Amino acid sequence: MPTAGADATRLTKSQQTEPLLVVEGLKTHFATPNGLVKAVDGVSLSVARGKTLGVVGESGSGKTVLSRSIMRLNTAGNVITHGRVSYDGEDLLQESPKEMREIWGVEMAMVFQDPMTSLNPVVRVGRQMTEHIRHHLKVSKSEAAETAIELLRSVRIPEPEARFSNYPHEMSGGMRQRVCIAIALACGPKMLFADEPTTALDVTVQHQILNLLEQQQKDRFMTMIMVTHDLGVVAGRTDEIAVMYAGKIAEKAPTGELFADMRHPYTESLLRSIPKINQPKHTRLAAISGRPPDLINPPSGCAFSPRCPYAQPKCFEQTPPLTAAPAPGHQYACWFPVGSPEGNQAWETNMAAGRLQTLAAAGELNATEDIPATIGGG
Ligand SMILES: Nc1ncnc2c1ncn2[C@@H]1O[C@H](COP(=O)(O)OP(=O)(O)O)[C@@H](O)[C@H]1O
Ligand code: SF4
Ligand SMILES: [Mg+2]
Repeated sequence: MPTAGADATRLTKSQQTEPLLVVEGLKTHFATPNGLVKAVDGVSLSVARGKTLGVVGESGSGKTVLSRSIMRLNTAGNVITHGRVSYDGEDLLQESPKEMREIWGVEMAMVFQDPMTSLNPVVRVGRQMTEHIRHHLKVSKSEAAETAIELLRSVRIPEPEARFSNYPHEMSGGMRQRVCIAIALACGPKMLFADEPTTALDVTVQHQILNLLEQQQKDRFMTMIMVTHDLGVVAGRTDEIAVMYAGKIAEKAPTGELFADMRHPYTESLLRSIPKINQPKHTRLAAISGRPPDLINPPSGCAFSPRCPYAQPKCFEQTPPLTAAPAPGHQYACWFPVGSPEGNQAWETNMAAGRLQTLAAAGELNATEDIPATIGGG
């Protein structure tokens, strides 16, 4: 059997308290004929062993580039990376390609959005699994097959012995993603990245896959980064959430704290775009008005300013730094935070000036119904 991930009981005291991953000032820029795309632009974060971090943001906010940069999977020739990615005390940005190949699969693994692009369509899933297992673990063919079938069973694939001989197209989308998860888990990685792992799947299957990932993460004491555009996906499943906007962290907090006391207007907009259970089917989701920013020429000042219902003149001129909220681990980058007296004042000023109505029209929001609960209530 493969090693079953990290085990909390086998760690020294300092290992248990030190975060497994520490990212400091990470920048990933792409040189293009039109200019420098600042896909990740100064991200710092850390994830403790056995904990789950949700990375949330709209499409194009830099989530995938961030995950791939941490794992050193950005192979594009036009990539420029700065900063530090410390994994278990080693700076991954200094590792050679050969050293990284030893780390992939064994230390860190990734589950991608579309299982069809990660699996080879002309090779039976069993062989894809055993090749991966034999590449990393020194085991015989029959031991690898046994391990693969056990893994298929652990990701709850019915009749794993029979499924072992299937081609990917003979399986449903959900089943294929289970196979990808099994492959990612095969060598017992300490850290798992899941990049929009359910976006390509039917809604009914999405929950099963998320539950499976959560269960495996807990059983194996893995550290997990769950990347998604949907704040609803990470709401009850992560220890901490980092909200990304235009390649930067807009807000970061323990999950409960984020939902109880979100400070960044962008986080609030993401929350309002989650479908509500009792929402009639024909109701359109509240879209965030305006378009995500140009990462070559981002807006001056706060990148969210052209779309922000709270924006004031200062926001268009000065970039807000990440600021500590009173609760431990909570940081936000905003001059007029949600729920603060200055935030409430900014909202009221914009409401009176008709700016909210203009934004609402662009995003098909109903401005009068979408006034945050904090207004008027404190
Ligand atoms: N190789 C590349 N060259 C130029 N731009 C890129 C490259 N890869 C990604 N980008 C750009 O980086 C930005 C962030 O992309 P991505 O991380 O995939 O966003 P997300 O995962 O949040 O949807 C996008 O604007 C994307 O077009
Ligand atoms: S700094 Fe200004 S524009 Fe940016 S999120 Fe805060 S209020 Fe909105
Ligand atoms: Mg992505």
